[in-house]
Formats: sequence, C-alpha cells, structure tokens
Amino acid sequence: MKKKIVTLFLSAMMATSMLAVPAMADDATDAEAVAEEATDEAEEEAAEDVEEDAAEAAEDAADAIDLEGIDVENATIGISIYKFDDNFMTLYRTELVRYLTEDLGFNEKNITVTDGKNDQAEQTNQINNFITAGVDVMILNLVQSSSAPQVTDLCNEAGIPVVYINRQPEESESDRWAEEGIKATYVGADARQSGTFQGEEILETANGGDINGDGKVSYIMVQGDPENIDAQYRTEYSVKALTDAGVEVEELLLQRGDWDQAKGQQIVQDALTQFGDQIEVVFCNNDAMALGALQSIQAAGRVVNEDIYLVGVDALTDALQNIQDGNMTGTVFNDHIGQSHAAVEMAVKFLKDEEVAPVNMVDYIKATSENAADILALLQ
Ligand code: BGC
Repeated sequence: MKKKIVTLFLSAMMATSMLAVPAMADDATDAEAVAEEATDEAEEEAAEDVEEDAAEAAEDAADAIDLEGIDVENATIGISIYKFDDNFMTLYRTELVRYLTEDLGFNEKNITVTDGKNDQAEQTNQINNFITAGVDVMILNLVQSSSAPQVTDLCNEAGIPVVYINRQPEESESDRWAEEGIKATYVGADARQSGTFQGEEILETANGGDINGDGKVSYIMVQGDPENIDAQYRTEYSVKALTDAGVEVEELLLQRGDWDQAKGQQIVQDALTQFGDQIEVVFCNNDAMALGALQSIQAAGRVVNEDIYLVGVDALTDALQNIQDGNMTGTVFNDHIGQSHAAVEMAVKFLKDEEVAPVNMVDYIKATSENAADILALLQ
C-alpha cells in the first residue's frame, strides 16, 4: 500500500515542479510570486490526491495479492534476517511482518523471524530448524549469499520453496533454479541503479563535485561488505556515472565499513586527518555509514554542500532529515516497502504452485533536497 502511495506522490511532485515554472512573468518578483502560488496550489492538490489515493490503495492492498486458495490462518512462514542489528534490514523486516499480518491476514503465531547474527553457521541451523518444523515457505536474507547453493539444496530436498531477499546469489545459481525447476527466487534491487543515482547526484551539484576547481573530483569510498553484490555495484557505478559523463576522478581511499555507522565514522575521521581538504566527495554504500561519516565531517569543521559532498543509499529517516537540513547531499531510496511486498508476493505464488521468475527487481528512487521532505512525510 505504502509503495503505491510513494509512487503516486512522487509523480505528483514531478507535476508540481513543472507547474512551478512561470511561463511568462515580467520580472523576478512576479515570477517568484507566480511560482510560489503555483507551488502552494500544486502541493495542496498533491497532498489531497495522496490522501484520496491512500484510502483507495488501502482497499487495493488486499487485491494486489491474490490469496485465493491460501489458508492464511494456518500457513507457516520461516524468515531469517542476516542480522537484526542493521538499520535497513530492521525497516525491511518490520514492514514484511506488518504486511503479512495486518494487510494480508496471515497469523502472526505462524510466522517465525530469526536473527542470523551475521553468522552463516548459526543461520544454517535456523534454516534446518525451519525444515524440521516443516514450514510452508521460507524468506531468507542470507548472511553469505555464496551459501545459496547449499541452502537451496537443503530446502529443495525438503520440498520447501525459498524466497531470497536483499543479498543476491550468483547468477549461475539463479539460472540453475530456472533450469532445474527448483522453487527458489530472489527479490531485490539492482545496485547498479543506486550507484548510478549517487554519481548523478554529485554531477547535479553546482560544481559537479569539483569543489576546488582543479579539473577532477577527488573522493573517498566507504564500502559495505565487499562480499555483497550491492556493495560491489554501488562502488563501481557511482564512480562510473562520473567517468561516463567525462569527469576525471581521483580515488583517495576505498575502505570497507561493513554497512556499519561506527565504522563509517572511524574511516572518514581517519581519512579527513590524512587527506584534509583534498576530499571533495564522500561516497558511502549506505546511509548508516553516511550518518557516521557526517559525524566526522562535522567534528572536523567541514560543511556539507559547501566544502564537501556526502551521499548514501537507503533513505533512512535520519538521512532524509539531514538532506532536508542541508547536511547531506543526497541518498537513494532503497524501497524496503516494495521489496518486502514483492517477497511476499513470490512466497504466495510458490504456495499456490505458480510459476515464479528466478530474479525480481524493484526500482530505486533518487532522494535529494527536492523530494526528501516528501519521502520523509510518507515514510513516517
Ligand atoms: C542496504 C544496507 C544494508 C544491506 C544489508 C543493503 O541493500 O543498503 O543498508 O546494510 O543491504 O545486506
């Protein structure tokens, strides 16, 4: 439901910015007044539309997934998250359970959610317990995506379908599911898109990221867990967006921060000591690390959007708030609502013995000062 509202609202906002351009105002003051009025009106209309659509979307939510033939009261679902102590996956898992129970009417007692504690052996034990308990379907956020072949075989032998989320198994593995008719699928988002959006946000700044005007963009890269394809692609494609636009770049540092705020803070603190004013852009593979980076940037007396740029991914509430306040340049909305709903949709298809594509991707959305407040309002 929320997913639909976000999409509708963002299109309304795009219409708003088009309306805000005064066609033929005589002077700047008139133009500003016209623009302001147009913006106010359009914003009000957009807000009203959103409210109306929200009611409509609520009704649609149950229809979005065809539950016919599913015994929602008795269906059992095993969910394991790579670790509970991850900001983004906490939002994701909360929405996943909320959607299953509140919107679709699954019985909370039959949904088990376990904490993989960032330990694959521990998580594999949990999966074995799900098998012993005979759950109807699993939704798994693997600690190590490289363990997908082994886990898939375990589930397949037990006749239990599995929906992998967030950490994408190798392509050869998802190809195997399709070839061998194994009931496994992946739901995620294409991290090349989020990386590209980060690069574009830098290109869209007043000086295209070249604050000191030396003809190149000097950056540091704070990477997530490098085993993770999201971390690899975001790292590569954020920079590629700059080089594809013909911009010269200089990498001062690339360091893994494992998606973790405290690590992000430490890495950026050390980098600022080592490279000082040379750093023009701080790329972080996620918002948790970007929020850590921001603490160090502010402690060092640097000012985001004036003498340094900072971008993340996820659109955590704190990040959106900081973008709105001018303390972060941008982020990318990693749509945990769309992804969790799509994961449920695939699980339900498996329960109904329907065909499921091996890979299912949900779009990212660019989040900058232009739409941060709107996304924030909708996520709260
Ligand atoms: C998110 C990170 C998160 C990671 C967990 C990524 O898609 O951007 O914030 O830590 O998934 O696997």
